[in-house]
Amino acid sequence: MNFNGKTVVVTGAARGIGKATALKFGEKGGKVVVCDISMDSLSEVMEELKTNQVEALAFEVDVTDREAVEKMMNDVKDQCGSVDVIVNNAGITADGRLVKMEEEAFDKVIDVNLKGVFNCGQAAARIMAEQGSGVILNASSVVGIYGNFGQTNYAATKWGVIGMTKTWAKELGKQGIRVNAVAPGFILTPMVEKMPENVLDMMKDKSPIKKLGKPEDIANAYAFLASEEAGFITGTVLSVDGGVVL
Ligand code: NAI
Repeated sequence: MNFNGKTVVVTGAARGIGKATALKFGEKGGKVVVCDISMDSLSEVMEELKTNQVEALAFEVDVTDREAVEKMMNDVKDQCGSVDVIVNNAGITADGRLVKMEEEAFDKVIDVNLKGVFNCGQAAARIMAEQGSGVILNASSVVGIYGNFGQTNYAATKWGVIGMTKTWAKELGKQGIRVNAVAPGFILTPMVEKMPENVLDMMKDKSPIKKLGKPEDIANAYAFLASEEAGFITGTVLSVDGGVVL
C-alpha cells in the first residue's frame, strides 16, 4: 500500500478510529488532511503527524455545516492539488430505548452520521469527478446491519450509510470513483469506552477470537480499501468485527 502523492481527508480525526486512520495514511506516504469540530482537539494528531514527518493540514469543520465542508474541500484541492481519498469517519451516539428517545437525540445523530456523510461525500465527489479518480470510504457499523438495543438513531444512520455507499458506487463508478464502507465491530475508542464493562465483556465473549478491536484494525481496512490493491472493489461493506455476529 502506497499513497505517495495522494491527498487523504479524514473527518473526525482528532481521536479514536479517525486519528489512527490519519496516522496510517501518513505512514503509507499520503498527504493527510484532518478535520474535527475543534482545532484544539486536532493538536495531538497534528503533533504526531509532524513527528512522523507527514505533510498534514488541519481544518476545524463541523460535518453538518455544508458551507464549511464545501469550503474545506475546495481549500484542500487548491492547497494540495487534489482530493484523492475521503474517509467519512466522524460520528456520534446519543443512546436511548425507543420509548424514551427524545426527538432531539434522534435528529442530532441523523445530522452528524448521515447528513454529515452526505455533505462530505457530495463535496468530495464533485472534485473527484472532475479529476476522473477518487475513493470515498464511509463509516458504517455492525450495529447498522444487525441493530442494537438503545440505538434506534445510530443503527438507522449506519444502515443509511450502506444505502448511500451502494448508490454512490453505482453513480460514480463511470468517473473513476470507488465507494466502499467499513462496518467495525466493537473497537476500543472513547466512544465505546463509555459503555458498561459487562457489555464490553459480553461483546468480547461473543467474538470467536475473544477480542475487542483496536482503532488500527479499522485504519488498516480503510487503507486497504483506498489502495490500488483494492482497485476492483466498489460498493461493498467490509465487516471488521472479530466475527462478533457470526
Ligand atoms: P470517537 O467518538 O472516538 O471519535 C469521533 C470523532 O468524530 C471525535 O473526534 C469527534 O469530535 C468527531 N466528530 C463528532 N461530531 C463531529 C462533527 N459534527 N464534525 C466533525 N467531527 C465530528 O468515535 P470512534 O469510536 O473513533 O468512531 C469513529 C467512527 O466509527 C464513527 O462514525 C462511529 O460511528 C464508527 N464506529 C465505531 C465503532 C466503535 O466500536 N468505536 C463501531 C462501529 C462504528
